[in-house]
Amino acid sequence: MLRNTPEHWGLITRSLHWLIAAMILVQLPLGFLMVDAYDAWQAGHGDPALVMRLSQAHNTNGFLILILVMLRLSWRLGNPSPELPGALLAWQRFVARVTHIALYALLILFPLSGWAALSAYDGDFPIYFFAWDNVFRLVPQATPGSPFNSDLYGEIHETCWKIGAVILLLHISAALWHEYIRRDGALSRMWRG
Ligand code: HEM
Repeated sequence: MLRNTPEHWGLITRSLHWLIAAMILVQLPLGFLMVDAYDAWQAGHGDPALVMRLSQAHNTNGFLILILVMLRLSWRLGNPSPELPGALLAWQRFVARVTHIALYALLILFPLSGWAALSAYDGDFPIYFFAWDNVFRLVPQATPGSPFNSDLYGEIHETCWKIGAVILLLHISAALWHEYIRRDGALSRMWRG
């Protein structure tokens, strides 16, 4: 069944969940590779064509993640969500809710801050979506001395993965705890419905 019910996640939610997870798994190493290639280029021994290809892949995948997260969020708001499994204590419910809200917030802030970092960049650097190399700027290009420059948004973008790593670890540990210690099927219902 496509839609969620009060007991089960529907196919749309489950597909979006695992598709976004897989795309983030690709996006993180792509980000680090891109920054390394850019630093090597700036240091005079890199390949500018490689920087552009990695940037194109990173931008495109990041925009797709943003679109899918917005779809996932609107689908969630317009559909019933299954109850959290079993008799959880009040603090456990609270931690679960906070973790889920934080994950959504990060998944929106992550691509937006990367987009802003590239928009504010004070050189001539394309913003790609697939072959389109002229995506509009999210924020104005920084002028010399402006505090709202590429470094600021780049720092926010970097902080996202540091905070995200902690929240993701919490999220994955909770899923495994539910599945293998409490045995309440929380993980398998996100897989099989
Ligand atoms: C959920 C989506 C995204 C994830 C998970 C992600 C992840 C990353 C990671 C891990 C890095 C390396 C950070 C570091 O060196 O510490 C990075 C760098 C970067 N990303 Fe993303 N990114 C996303 C979306 C985007 C988008 C949509 C854009 C632009 C349209 C973008 C532009 C950049 C830029 C410009 C950098 C270099 C920042 C700097 O070093 O100042 N990112 N990204």
